[in-house]
Amino acid sequence: MKPAWLPFPQSATSAEFKLRLHLSRAAIFLCLFSAGYMIGYLSSVPQFNLQNQFHPNCTAITVANSDTNPLPIKEHELQTGPPPHDLLQFKKRCGKPIPKSEILNTLIANMFEGIEPYEGFPSAEVESLIHKPADHPRGWGSTGAVFRDLIESVRPGVIIELGSFLGASALHMAGVTHNLSLSSTLILSVDDFRGWPNFRLRFRRDVPQNRHADALLLQQFMANVKAAGESQRIIPVPFSTGSALIALCEWGIYGDLIEVDAGHDFHSAWADINRAYAILRPGGVLFGHDYFTVADNRGVRRAVTLFAKVKGLTVRPHGQHWVLSPKPRE
Ligand SMILES: *[C@@H]1O[C@H](CO)[C@@H](O)[C@H](O)[C@H]1NC(C)=O
Ligand SMILES: *[C@@H]1O[C@H](CO)[C@@H](O)[C@H](O)[C@H]1NC(C)=O
Repeated sequence: MKPAWLPFPQSATSAEFKLRLHLSRAAIFLCLFSAGYMIGYLSSVPQFNLQNQFHPNCTAITVANSDTNPLPIKEHELQTGPPPHDLLQFKKRCGKPIPKSEILNTLIANMFEGIEPYEGFPSAEVESLIHKPADHPRGWGSTGAVFRDLIESVRPGVIIELGSFLGASALHMAGVTHNLSLSSTLILSVDDFRGWPNFRLRFRRDVPQNRHADALLLQQFMANVKAAGESQRIIPVPFSTGSALIALCEWGIYGDLIEVDAGHDFHSAWADINRAYAILRPGGVLFGHDYFTVADNRGVRRAVTLFAKVKGLTVRPHGQHWVLSPKPRE
C-alpha cells in the first residue's frame, strides 16, 4: 500500500459554514457542561490532587460526544505524566523461530487453509479481468542499487517486504538473488493489495479495473509473479501490515532482510518499523523506501530517526532508501 499523494478536495459551502458555527456553539456548550461536570466530579473525590488535574482541550470537543453520557472517570485515568506506556510499546519477543523449510507450509496452512495460492491460478474469469502480466510492473524505487548491495551483504534466506503493490520490487529482488546464487531465498510480500482510496486517478493504466469494489491488485500481483516463474518463492501475504506482522511474530517466522514501504504517515511507518524489527533475525537488516523523496514530511524519516535513536542504531541513506545498522545479536 502506498499513500495517496493527491490532496483531498475541499470546498466549504455556506451550509457547511453554518453547520460549523452550530458545531462550535455546541462545542462551547459541551465544554462548559463538561467543565462543570469535571469540577463536580473532582470535588467529590477528596484525595484527588487538583494541582495535577487533566485539562481537556475544549476546542477539540465535537458534537459526536453530545449523545454520549459522560462515563465515570477513574482516578488513574486522570493522572498526568508520560503517556501510557502501551502507546510506545510494541511486542518485542516473538515465537520460537521455525526452520526455513517449514515457513511455506506454515503460511499456507494458517493463511490459506492449506490451499496452495497459485494452484490453478489464474482462473479464466480472473484472467479476463486483469492486465497481461508485466515484465516490469509499475513500482517506485523498486530497482535501486540498495537491493543488490543489501542482498549481497546479508545473503538472506528469507526476505519480507511490506508494501508490494504490483510486485516490482519483489521481482527485482528475486532477480538479484538469482544472480547471487541465492535462488532458494523466500520472499514474503505483505500488502492488503487494495492500494489506497483514489490510487486509480494516477495509475489507471497500470492496474486492472476494480471488480465489485475489489481492486484486483492481489490477482495482478500473482499473475506478474507467476509469469516470471517465481511463484514457488514469492508468496503474497494479503493482509494489512499490522495484522500480518503480528501473525508472523506469533508463528515464529523471521526475516533476514525486511523492507518497509507501506503506509508513509508517521504512525503507519512507526508501527511497521517497530513490528518488523521484532521479526528481524539478529544480524539481519531493516531498510525502507522514501527517506529523501516527496514523502519526507509525511513521517517516514521522523519514524526512522526516532526508532534508530531509541534502539541505538545508525541510519544510512542509500539512494531513495534508508538502511538501519544490523540488528545486534543477543
Ligand atoms: C487545542 O485544540 C486546538 C484546535 O484543535 C489547537 O489549535 C490547540 O493547539 C490545542 N491546544 C492544546 C493545548 O492542545
Ligand atoms: C542479473 O545479471 C544479468 C547479467 O549480468 C543482468 O543483465 C541483470 O540485470 C541482473 N539482474 C538483476 C535483477 O540484477
